[in-house]
Amino acid sequence: MAAFAITEGVWAVGVQNPNLRVFDIVMATAYGTTYNAYLVRGEKTALIETVHRRFFDAYLENIQSVCDLESIDYLILNHCEPDHSGSVGALLERCPNLTVVASPGGSINIKQITNRPDLPVRTVKEGDTLDLGGGKVLSFTMVPFVHWPDTMFTYDAADRMIFTCDFLGAHYCEPLMLDTKIPYPEAYESAFKGYYDAIMGPFKPYVRAGLSKLEKYDFDYVGTSHGPILTKGGRYAYCVERYRAWSAERKNDRKTIPIFYTSAYGCTAKAAEMLREGVLEAIPDADCACYDIIEHPMAELAERLNTADAFMIGSPTLNKDAVPPVWELISHIDAINGQKKPCLVFGSYGWSGEAVPMMADRLRALKLAVYEETLKFVFVASEADLERAKALGHAFAASL
Ligand code: FEO
Repeated sequence: MAAFAITEGVWAVGVQNPNLRVFDIVMATAYGTTYNAYLVRGEKTALIETVHRRFFDAYLENIQSVCDLESIDYLILNHCEPDHSGSVGALLERCPNLTVVASPGGSINIKQITNRPDLPVRTVKEGDTLDLGGGKVLSFTMVPFVHWPDTMFTYDAADRMIFTCDFLGAHYCEPLMLDTKIPYPEAYESAFKGYYDAIMGPFKPYVRAGLSKLEKYDFDYVGTSHGPILTKGGRYAYCVERYRAWSAERKNDRKTIPIFYTSAYGCTAKAAEMLREGVLEAIPDADCACYDIIEHPMAELAERLNTADAFMIGSPTLNKDAVPPVWELISHIDAINGQKKPCLVFGSYGWSGEAVPMMADRLRALKLAVYEETLKFVFVASEADLERAKALGHAFAASL
């Protein structure tokens, strides 16, 4: 992507990566991504964000198509994850007199990321400003945990533009970078939702705070760090409305206690059914359904688990371990908002039965409230085992 002017004083100088299919190891990116960066010019010049280190050369070319490197005075880092800060070291080699500007958290991060503890950084706090001259003053507002503690927004009143880094971004790559020129809106909406779920979803209270911060500013453009630049009159209203809806505080209408399990021969499945009977005995109107993990999309199960009031998870023991689908589901637990969520573990085993204690240990490590009593039984549950399962389901539900 070549650099282009967004307003009279702001240029997009980021790069595109349409071929990316996995971001941050775990996130599918069917539509690639972009690493957005911006040049803001007054009498002085500020660069906002760098790009992933692999794309430094293209980034440099874009910058140099707008201005000489020597004329850049500031590098503003709204957030220091290496997809935005990975080229800072390489840029500083070419622009040694550049002043890096970051939040207090960002100042610490960038010294560690560049391995330069002596790196001079201008640390800015809530409401601080940076005067670029010519009537152009940038101001900063701190928005921690959307999605790192270091995140801030940079506001450019003169150009009526706010730079929000990951906030309202999407892993979506199209040659035309404005939201008024998205040729496949459904694809964009799907990418926007996937991005929210993976990046912002664990930080809902902070997302709500970020939205409130945005309301205080008057702007026409939102310079995100991934995907289209948003505009008032374009996709901005949609994006904000979606963030509001997805981040709203939720309370289940009735006690929701899903039971997740895997079962090779139906033994753990049978226990799941009996646990459910026990739950319904204690709370007759509970929303308590059993889910064989391998028969449902993982994202659906994760959503179910993360919005539940409590849950149970069962696995047989295979090769001294719980089985991979169970570990995968556990890896999707929102451990930030799910702290102290009550859960119970169970499972059938043939020889040694490690799965149940291993699941319990892992869930405790994630700071969930693991019910002290677990349910383990050898091979096929006896009548006594099934009665024990029912009683345990009842006791667990009654404890909620
Ligand atoms: Fe796009 Fe959190 O970095």
